[in-house]
Amino acid sequence: TVLIIDFGSQVTQLIARRVRETGVYCEIVPFQSAEAAFESIGPKAVILSGSPHSTVDIGSPRAPDLIFQAGVPVLGICYGEQTMCAQLGGKVEGGHHREFGRAFLKIEEDSALFDGVWAKGTRHQVWMSHGDRVTDIPEGFRVIGTSAGAPFAAIADEARKFYAVQFHPEVVHTPDGARLLANFVHNIAGLKGDWSMAAYRDKAVAAIREQVGDGKVICALSGGVDSSVAALLIHEAIGDRLTCILVDHGLMRKNEAADVVAMFREHYNLSLILVNASDRFIDALEGEVDPEKKRKTIGRLFIEVFEEEARKLGGADFLAQGTLYPDVIESVSFTGGPSVTIKSHHNVGGLPERMNMKLVEPLRELFKDEVRALGKELGLPDHFIGRHPFPGPGLAIRCPGGVTREKLEILREADAVYLDEIRKAGLYDAIWQAFAVLLPVQTVGVMGDGRTYEFVCALRAVTSVDGMTADFYPYDMNFLGRAATRIINEVRGINRVVYDVTSKPPGTIEWE
Ligand code: XMP
Repeated sequence: TVLIIDFGSQVTQLIARRVRETGVYCEIVPFQSAEAAFESIGPKAVILSGSPHSTVDIGSPRAPDLIFQAGVPVLGICYGEQTMCAQLGGKVEGGHHREFGRAFLKIEEDSALFDGVWAKGTRHQVWMSHGDRVTDIPEGFRVIGTSAGAPFAAIADEARKFYAVQFHPEVVHTPDGARLLANFVHNIAGLKGDWSMAAYRDKAVAAIREQVGDGKVICALSGGVDSSVAALLIHEAIGDRLTCILVDHGLMRKNEAADVVAMFREHYNLSLILVNASDRFIDALEGEVDPEKKRKTIGRLFIEVFEEEARKLGGADFLAQGTLYPDVIESVSFTGGPSVTIKSHHNVGGLPERMNMKLVEPLRELFKDEVRALGKELGLPDHFIGRHPFPGPGLAIRCPGGVTREKLEILREADAVYLDEIRKAGLYDAIWQAFAVLLPVQTVGVMGDGRTYEFVCALRAVTSVDGMTADFYPYDMNFLGRAATRIINEVRGINRVVYDVTSKPPGTIEWE
């Protein structure tokens, strides 16, 4: 294991991604609990992250001293370099020379860190983002790389295997950065890259068996990738002692519930209960136009329905959840204040306590792309693994102004036609998420010789990495024209189509 000590950088997770891509397992811990984590995990190497802080400030975070005495290799990145220098006897100065963005690193000395990547005397693009800089390095270190703004841009104490860089090797704007990190974990720390999804699968299955014993597990299957992969893994571990419940709230896409059920029952022989609760959800939603109230109603009903079904089964000892690593990383918060709720997200939080169940979360250690790789390993088809995200509250939040059965039906059809056009144009994988929205507005049109007065459909498609920020997808106008024509011709109730060109922020991806 490599331990990554987080000082609050925006890109700490990327360090973890890069390390795992080398086939080596790593964990992120906030600096406040780094000492305890170091003692319990016994890592073979440590990486110190960047930070919004300045080492010059009184009370700014430090790495626990014991990591420098334990004889393990340490790599400091940005703030990590500065705190290393400050803690080991060098000097850091605040403020005056700021360096942000692209910079060029000149390689002054060959080093194990640069082996096979960068040779002495050459220059390479790196990404910098720092206000402070190191002005004197601790004893035992030598300078291995310099940049215009940072005379100590890369330093090394090869005897103690301490390395530090002012630039960010984890970001794509340092094109060779991933190879430097691979050098650190493979060559310097001597770790083998044998952490693969096949190995993870075996380890996770064994861990589930150990945790669950002969207990029973239930799982809320949504048809999304996370809950599906979690269910398959648990099924592999304990077979029929897992029961999955799919609550059809009547807000899914065309054929979705039936497709998911068919796949899991037929190909995996999974014990799966499909609960058709659409009437209950739609009756409760009727007349409700407030987006937050819609979300809360759906969340509450989901828990009620799930609980009832679980009781019918005679309860269970464990509830399975597809929680991912980004949700469990304790983030290092410097602002502290509670953040504003933009939308109440739909999840099954609160259920385990209410029902007195323990949690099984076999994906807690994985990033989203790793879950996809595990899904592939478990035999899920590519088209399923690569599906666009779909929100828990489903089509309800794509019917601004309130849902009715009729509107849901119109929206479902329009959405299916739109996605069909996207697939036909070969654009599905280039788009992060695409869907139709049915607006509560009717406009006048003419079809044949008659006047029409029907709804407006808005099309949305965005590119994004994680859903936190997004940009609208720049379709070719011909594509939009084709999609609009088909929707208006094939879907009764829509006579006008518009395209949403809002990015996030200031918009959100969903309309509600
Ligand atoms: P927004 O609209 O907040 O959406 O920009 C960001 C991403 O989250 C999805 N989303 C949800 N996912 N439960 C979910 O599981 C929810 O309640 C929920 N609301 C939004 C949205 O589809 C987009 O991918």
